[in-house]
Amino acid sequence: MDFHSLAQRYQTPLYVYDFDKLKENFLGFKDAFAGRKSLICYALKANSNLSLLSFLASLGAGADCVSIGEVKKALLAGIPKYKIIFSGVGKRDDEIYEALREDILFLNLESFEEMKRVEKIAKELGKRARISVRVNPNIDAKTHPYISTGLYENKFGVEIEVAKEMYIYAKTSSFLEAVGVHFHIGSQLCELSPILEASQKVADFYKSLLALGLEVKFFDIGGGLGIAYEGEEIIPLYDYAQGILSTLKDCEPTIICEAGRRIVGDCGVFLTKVIGEKSNSHKRFIIVDGAMNDLMRPTLYQAKHHSYILGKENEPKTPCDIVGAICESGDFLAKNVLMPSSESGDLVVFENAGAYGYSMSSNYNTRTRPAEVALIEGNPKLIKARESLESLWANELELL
Ligand code: LLP
Repeated sequence: MDFHSLAQRYQTPLYVYDFDKLKENFLGFKDAFAGRKSLICYALKANSNLSLLSFLASLGAGADCVSIGEVKKALLAGIPKYKIIFSGVGKRDDEIYEALREDILFLNLESFEEMKRVEKIAKELGKRARISVRVNPNIDAKTHPYISTGLYENKFGVEIEVAKEMYIYAKTSSFLEAVGVHFHIGSQLCELSPILEASQKVADFYKSLLALGLEVKFFDIGGGLGIAYEGEEIIPLYDYAQGILSTLKDCEPTIICEAGRRIVGDCGVFLTKVIGEKSNSHKRFIIVDGAMNDLMRPTLYQAKHHSYILGKENEPKTPCDIVGAICESGDFLAKNVLMPSSESGDLVVFENAGAYGYSMSSNYNTRTRPAEVALIEGNPKLIKARESLESLWANELELL
């Protein structure tokens, strides 16, 4: 089915995901670690559409969650509790309580203080909380500063020395069971060496824990693998997996990989229709019915999603910005790109929009969020309806 008919059938703006590609990407991760005990815990934050999650669940995926909402959604999608982990720098007590009650695989902890809170809540529940500690290896992941997480200046994880104290403490507690060690140095990573440097540092630490007699079973390598938004050279999955495994000689932990973007990013496109064009003496603008509230990445990270006007790929092009209707100059989907002359109704396709597209969308300017469609063996299926206007104010209470 072509994008024109999808846009006609489901209207725009619209997200379309190719589930065949999704399957291929997910199985690629599984294959890369084949032969070793491993679990791919898909990072829900990249795209948490329920149908997409059930589809991944059917392929054997686990889930990396960063809120109790994500934990509940993963469970709802049929991901077994023993494949769900809960990470994140600010877990509330009620979230910890619920996660322990649901008996998920483990919680990735971000501080000593958090560990004490988890211990207290586990004690209240009469449970032993399975935990893992996120180590901050202080390594520059060489990515956009907003999505770099492995340096001491970032809020994530704890220094190795602190992590060590945490494991020693956990060993003495009747309400904690340290089952894993974790790191994640950033997202959209296109260089393997910082990942392997981090892995080596954490692997050495992991081995020192084993030497202390701690039975830590899971080695959680986070996510972060980049995709080719602008023709970047991406890290081959095989090299990634082999590189990680080479840091783990003489030990056999179960590998947990929290991939998000690399599984879902290149499966999705964002379709938006041209409303009209305007130009001034300096600039040409194509105004479309999608906006930064639908696809936030260009505004937030100056990310470039390759785009084209469907059916006009071979026409002469001139520079322009592709902008939405939101009342901010930061509202653009593409800046200084070459596009043919467009008319109202033309369809603009933005590629690589499967990850951090819909999941970061908002209702800013009281705009309804787009619909989402899955292509399964080429057949379209609506997996999330476009929001209705009424739903936008349904939870608001009248003052008078
Ligand atoms: N694990 C942890 C602890 C994370 O913080 C993240 C992403 C992931 C796994 C998944 O990373 P991935 O494989 O998707 O790179 N909104 C940004 C990306 C933020 C990533 C946050 N953490 C963007 O649109 O580029």
